[in-house]
Amino acid sequence: MSKKYSSSTYFILILVIVLHAFAYSGESRRPFACDPANPGTRNLQFCKASLPIHVRVQDLIGRLTLQEKIRLLVNNAASVERLGVNGYEWWSEALHGISNTGPGVKFGDAFPGATSFPQVITTAASFNTSLWQEIGRVVSDEGRAMYNGGAAGLTFWSPNVNILRDPRWGRCQETPGEDPHLVAQYAVSYVKGLQGGSDSGNTGRLKVAACCKHYTAYDLDDWNGFDRYHFNAKVSKQDLEDTYNVPFKACVVEGNVASVMCSYNQINGKPSCADPTLLRDTIRAQWHLNGYIVSDCDSVGVLFYQQHYTRFPEDAAAATIKAGLDLDCGPFLAIHTEQAVRTGKVSELEIKYALANTITVQMRLGMFDGPSGPYANLGPRDVCTPAHQQLALQAAREGLVLLKNIGRALPLSPQRHRTVAVIGPNSDATVAMIGNYAGVPCGYISPLQGIARYARTVHQYGCMGVTCPGNQQFGLAEVAARHADATVLVMGLDQSIEAEARDRVSLLLPRYQQELISRVAMASRGPVVLVLMSGGPIDVTFAKNDPRVSAILWAGYPGQAGGAAIADVLFGTANPVSDTLIGVGLIRIRAA
Ligand SMILES: *[C@@H]1O[C@H](CO)[C@@H](O)[C@H](O)[C@H]1NC(C)=O
Repeated sequence: MSKKYSSSTYFILILVIVLHAFAYSGESRRPFACDPANPGTRNLQFCKASLPIHVRVQDLIGRLTLQEKIRLLVNNAASVERLGVNGYEWWSEALHGISNTGPGVKFGDAFPGATSFPQVITTAASFNTSLWQEIGRVVSDEGRAMYNGGAAGLTFWSPNVNILRDPRWGRCQETPGEDPHLVAQYAVSYVKGLQGGSDSGNTGRLKVAACCKHYTAYDLDDWNGFDRYHFNAKVSKQDLEDTYNVPFKACVVEGNVASVMCSYNQINGKPSCADPTLLRDTIRAQWHLNGYIVSDCDSVGVLFYQQHYTRFPEDAAAATIKAGLDLDCGPFLAIHTEQAVRTGKVSELEIKYALANTITVQMRLGMFDGPSGPYANLGPRDVCTPAHQQLALQAAREGLVLLKNIGRALPLSPQRHRTVAVIGPNSDATVAMIGNYAGVPCGYISPLQGIARYARTVHQYGCMGVTCPGNQQFGLAEVAARHADATVLVMGLDQSIEAEARDRVSLLLPRYQQELISRVAMASRGPVVLVLMSGGPIDVTFAKNDPRVSAILWAGYPGQAGGAAIADVLFGTANPVSDTLIGVGLIRIRAA
């Protein structure tokens, strides 16, 4: 008994010491390479920060065996112990805040969360390029801080700049919308913010490496038996040039992005990741990408196993590398490239070209410069700061769009509207507000919590979730609306309706939602405000035409502070965009 007690005490003591040793300090992550504490490698030429990057890259590549090179062609790149180079996970995400969608980011311990900005479709609706760049700057501060603490990579596969041409697409929310010029400006601004702005010229250093994805003509995930792994987008040269490729070109040429990701789908019968015209001739030769081309995750496997694009796997490996692919998100190239070299289908020189592109980005990030560098002092205190969270609130306020406001129903007044009925499946939304490709936010303010800052609230969900399968709770919602001074209905969608791998089959509100809105509007004593959360457009013609619906506010997915922003707009302490162009675009759905 006592022996057991003392050994567990001993164990706890050891644990405390171990935890203490691993607790965050400015240099807690072992340097990726060129550790000054490693005398065997620190004097190698590729570690000399004073030499030009291309010299260092050639030196490192010249030391690698064929097998070592091949294990660097994939996202979970292997270590090369004898040269003091650690393994590296290339896949991190930062679409609208540091996200743990990829394996490169881990929340917990010193980094329980990160600032979760509105989903991109909302932020884009601000039409504010300096806001987009400022968000990128803040996200990269938090990304560097998490990298320093061993909780993130430095290569973020964001933003998504696909043109949203098909409103049924489940990933509308991730994009800045349907306008090629706006999407291009968003791409340039966000990428500059992430990568370090104007000082990241074509040979410059990188704060983090962004990635414009998914190249190209990709806006179908899974619809009515068609999926992105088998879809062949038939696109004319003019449409490619005028529409789909506009953001990618701007991202590379103006934004100096460090990476482009090719998509799952085929374009005119060829998988984009194996198309030398799209990759080598366009991204590299015409646009002069200074960076690497990465596949969408497992898309090299997809073009072999699902699209049957080549007869043998080594042909698929060779086809992608020859087309200009530098990095495979997935294991395919690590497994099949050696056979492709042995059979003469791809040369070792072509593999060296691919590695030169990836390793150059790592050098520009300072990953071969040891533990020091301009961002070495960023740590946990630089994540979720009050200023960062305030920017998330500002972005949500600027992104909200007023679609309808009759009889000056808005703004509400805390004096006249003392009691507000807050109704609807998104009325107390938290995780729904951050959409997909999100992380763990610093905290949430739901619409109900936001409105409670201005008025007494009476709360009814009305529906069981946004799918709203029944009308059993409608009576309670009507009673609440009948007795309140104003009614706010927070309706719309969430990831159960629109998501990656989940396209919509209808542009109307799900099931009984429309009926709930109409019945509550009929019962309501005061003004009725409809707040919509959605990434893709919703046809709300019925509410536009219903005189009892006084106002409609589109919120997209407004991020961690979305409820506060909605309440600020409802009560007039913030002014929403009321651009009729945006309103018309949302309400009038183009024939698909
Ligand atoms: C645009 O964003 C910037 C940066 O956050 C901000 O200072 C400015 O006020 C915003 N402009 C408008 C018109 O809201």
